[in-house]
Order: sequence, then C-alpha cells, then structure tokens
Amino acid sequence: MTQTTAMTAQALAIQQFALLDDIDCDARIVAARQKLGTRCVVLGHHYQRDEVFRHADFIGDSLKLSRMAAQSDAEYIVFCGVHFMAEVSDILSRPDQTAILPDLAAGCSMADMADLANVERCWRELSQVLDVEQTVTPVTYINSAADLKAFCGQHNGIVCTSSNAQKVLEWSFARREKVLFFPDQHLGRNTGYRMGIPLDDMVVWDFSKPMGGLSEEQISKARIILWKGFCSVHQMFRPEHIDDFLKRYPKTIVIAHPEASFEVCQKANYIGSTEYILKTVREAEPNTRWLVATELNLVNRLNREVKHQGKEVHFMSPTICMCSTMFRTDPQHLLWVLENLVEGHVVNRIRVPETEARYAKLALNNMLNVV
Ligand code: 13P
Ligand code: SF4
Repeated sequence: MTQTTAMTAQALAIQQFALLDDIDCDARIVAARQKLGTRCVVLGHHYQRDEVFRHADFIGDSLKLSRMAAQSDAEYIVFCGVHFMAEVSDILSRPDQTAILPDLAAGCSMADMADLANVERCWRELSQVLDVEQTVTPVTYINSAADLKAFCGQHNGIVCTSSNAQKVLEWSFARREKVLFFPDQHLGRNTGYRMGIPLDDMVVWDFSKPMGGLSEEQISKARIILWKGFCSVHQMFRPEHIDDFLKRYPKTIVIAHPEASFEVCQKANYIGSTEYILKTVREAEPNTRWLVATELNLVNRLNREVKHQGKEVHFMSPTICMCSTMFRTDPQHLLWVLENLVEGHVVNRIRVPETEARYAKLALNNMLNVV
C-alpha cells in the first residue's frame, strides 16, 4: 500500500467512526480498554465532555496531568486534552512511550497567539534596550507550543501553569529583575498583581507592532512584559455578570480561573486553576452558592457533583462558551485511536523533535522542581 493509499484508508476509517453513536462508542471504548489493559493510560483534562471524561484513568489540571505523564509506566498515553498537553506528555515521558492526541485539530487558540518567530523577534528587540540574558527571564504558560518551551529552556527560563504561576514568578525574580511572560497576558497580570506588582510596572507587548508598541522608557521601567495573548473562552466573563448575579443572590461566592480578565479576578473571592476551583467548591460549607468563571463542562459537572450538599454552582456568563477545541475530542475519536492500538496501529502520535524536546524539558523541569 502506498503512503497516500494508507492515509486515505485511515481517513476513511475515521469517517466510519464518525457515524457511530455515543452509546455504541462507549461500549467499544470499554472493550478496547480491557484488551489494552495497563499498556494504555487515558488522561483527561477537566474541560473534556462527559462522554470522554468518564473513560479517563486520571483527570486533572495541566500541572497534575503533566506530572501523571511523567510518572506513567504505560506504553501508550492517550491524552484527552489539547495539543500542547500531549506535547508535554511526549517530552516528559520515556522514549519508549507514545503520546497520542485523539483529534489532531484539538489545539488551543491562546497557545497559537505566540509563535517562535514573534517571540524571537521580541527577544531581539528587547535586547536593543536591555541586556536580556542578564535581566529578563522568559516564562511561558504551559499553554504554548513546544518550541516556545524550548526557547525558555535555552534562555534560562521556565514554564508555568495556572496553579504555580506565583511560585514560578518568585523563582524568576530571584534570578533576574524582569520577566517576559507569554502567551497569556491575563494570567501574568493577575499573578503579578497578587504578588504586589503594581499595574504600572506591567506593560503589554503587542507582537503586531515594532518594539511591541512600547517606548524604550516603558520597556526599561517594566518588571513584567506581558504578551498580548488571551483565552477567548475566559474573556467571555465580564465584571457586570458578577454584579448582576450578586444583585439577585448577594451571598454568592465568586471563583475565577486566572485566565479571566483583571476586572473579573478583582471581583472574585477566589482565583485559581481548574483543580483549585474544584477543590475549593468541593470543600466549601454545604448550602453555598457559587459563581464560576471557567469552562462550561467543568462547571456543569461540578454542579451535579455537589448538588446533594445543597450547593449550587452557576456558570458566570449568560451565553454559553465552551472551549471548542477541548470539545473536539469526542468518543468517536477516542474509540478510533484505541481500536487502532488494539490492532497494533498507532494513530495521531504526538512527537516533539529531539533537540526541541531536550530544551523544552529543561524549562519544564525548572517548573517541576519549583513546585
Ligand atoms: P488548568 O491548568 O487550570 O487546567 O488550565 C488549563 C487551561 O487551558 C485553562 O483554560
Ligand atoms: Fe486554550 Fe482557552 Fe481552551 Fe484553555 S479554554 S485550552 S486556554 S482555548
């Protein structure tokens, strides 16, 4: 069979799986999992839809899942999440392990807002004003491509997640006076501010403009240079949603993911990663009401889980905003990769080139050693 014929056969096979209904998929996923046994582990992010989520051996936020990937013994790590998560899994796992992303189109639109060419240009332009290697630590949010993690590894930088951003910034400031933070300006700003860094000491680098649209004076003065990236899902939450809700239910407790805007986070009682949100609401007093600024699948599932404790968990936005890329992983794709594994075929393997993986691992290990 030629390569093109083989690829066509594979594409056709996916189309056939797409015709299956969820219930049929469910039974076949269970059967495939039984055949694969401990050779295969399924990791699931909290934003996954229920029909996929229920098949995960381990669930978690980005940090927890990256640790799981590093510790797993399984031959195949099937990552029900988005592309950068499967890349991290490949980087942190052993060479004889295989990371698989059920749908290759499951990316992260925020991660796509920073690419290597633009970050390298930013670094060059900053070096016209600063001694970058001596004064700036590049910090990439884990929601970024592997080559950006490698960039951080090459420049004595580090990776962070939403649950360890503060500790990572403390690590960075203990080494150099400034941080270049990409791609999420909101996580950088919310974290910096909570550490006592005034808003005036943080500037936004607009990658579409020469010198990020900043003056030399602004760059010299800044402590954190924030990349102009954002998560469109978390930008749907607005401070007025909180105000309106509190008018109706004044005792509501507000909790937000730090990818939400500064204004939303300022009005929140608690701020933290997906794992933190789940833990906080689960451990809260019974009969409490919560307004949550993060993805809908998590919020709906949490609401069902804690209902029997008299707790009510509400989604912050009046309009539905799911992470459409997380949603791409459906039972049909999961079944397709699992049944292929049963047949001895690896489909949708995620492989980070060796040199890139080596440097990216430096930056990831810097993070894993901090927290
Ligand atoms: P967590 O690290 O909190 O799971 O967040 C990942 C993410 O992509 C949130 O949008
Ligand atoms: Fe990326 Fe936003 Fe989706 Fe998280 S919710 S994976 S940041 S697009």
